[in-house]
Amino acid sequence: MKIEKFKLERFFAKYEFAAKYLLCCSDCEGLTKKELLNLADTKSLDLWESLTLGYTESQGHPALRQEISLLYEDIYPSEILVAAPEGAIFIAMNTILAPNDHIIVTYPGYQSLFEIANSIGCSVSKWEPDYDTNGFSFDIEKLVPLIQKNTKMIIINFPHNPTGVPLDQEQIKTIVKIANNNNIILFADEMYQFLEHDKNDRIGSICDLYENGISLCGMSKSFSLAGLRIGWLATKNKIFYKKACEFKDYTTICNSAPSEILAIMGLRAKDKIIKQNLELIKTNLDLLDSFFEKYKSLFDWHRPIAGPIAFPKLKLDKSVSLFCKELLEQKSVLLLPSDLYGYKSNHFRIGFARKNVPQSLDKFEEYIKTL
Ligand SMILES: Cc1ncc(COP(=O)(O)O)c(C=O)c1O
Repeated sequence: MKIEKFKLERFFAKYEFAAKYLLCCSDCEGLTKKELLNLADTKSLDLWESLTLGYTESQGHPALRQEISLLYEDIYPSEILVAAPEGAIFIAMNTILAPNDHIIVTYPGYQSLFEIANSIGCSVSKWEPDYDTNGFSFDIEKLVPLIQKNTKMIIINFPHNPTGVPLDQEQIKTIVKIANNNNIILFADEMYQFLEHDKNDRIGSICDLYENGISLCGMSKSFSLAGLRIGWLATKNKIFYKKACEFKDYTTICNSAPSEILAIMGLRAKDKIIKQNLELIKTNLDLLDSFFEKYKSLFDWHRPIAGPIAFPKLKLDKSVSLFCKELLEQKSVLLLPSDLYGYKSNHFRIGFARKNVPQSLDKFEEYIKTL
């Protein structure tokens, strides 16, 4: 298999553990082991204490799948396959796609959502957002003309990385209708679900809404447990599910035993974890509002209504990659320039679900004052 390098992940491999101020992270502040164990209920603590470190069930621990199924309206544990989120994308794409298939994908976006398809020999159409005085928005009218005879899958990611844009109920229903009418599989990367800033903006999951829908979610973002490497695919499509289980045998076979139990603890404490993350996001977003108001001649800022990231625009007559490079070299603050998404614009990704956002912003401001 030949595949292009994953630009954003190579960037993080280089800087994530070298830069002091990570101002572009898409995960919420990680919980410590102690914090998680303190949140755990007695039953999961028993599972933790009596854990055998042997192989685990390939589909995922039954109690974990049970807990995951509670996140959905109408999904059974037998319709869930547990795998690392990135691994789950790899499994899904390889299970469904064949050379000469066509896919449509939200773009800019997380590279594996289209690059694996590219490597398989599929053609890719990008569903791009509009950008105007109200910020980014995805227009479904622009999705429909992208459909071709050989379109096998539509891949969406909402709340969207990097713009933070969510879909509303009407839009999601329309997309399901379009996919259904055209017999197209809908793969929804829902990694940022549950981080809608207002609970009322929460929409359903694709796996609940559409028989040929596959939802991806995981512990990394909303649940503050990226280091567990636990995610999952949820689907009512039995043929896909069986094939995905079979393909997983060529990846990790099964999941890490300790991670599965820790994920059970995290899911049982989800309400507290998500509430904590939303509070942090709101506090940090208020800071960002003031910051960008102060520097509105330099940046175009639209406060997002979902997720831990946004994609503001640099208005300076300077490339955003040079701007981010200087900021990193001079102040050790990490932002993510749009070229890492292969996207030609002067936007950059900023993340606001980490505790040290205020300190990172102070350093960012020090740099701005040198301009
Ligand atoms: C949209 C999206 N999907 C999938 C993933 C993969 O998640 P993980 O890094 O936990 O494997 C990410 C990670 O940033 C992401 O942003």
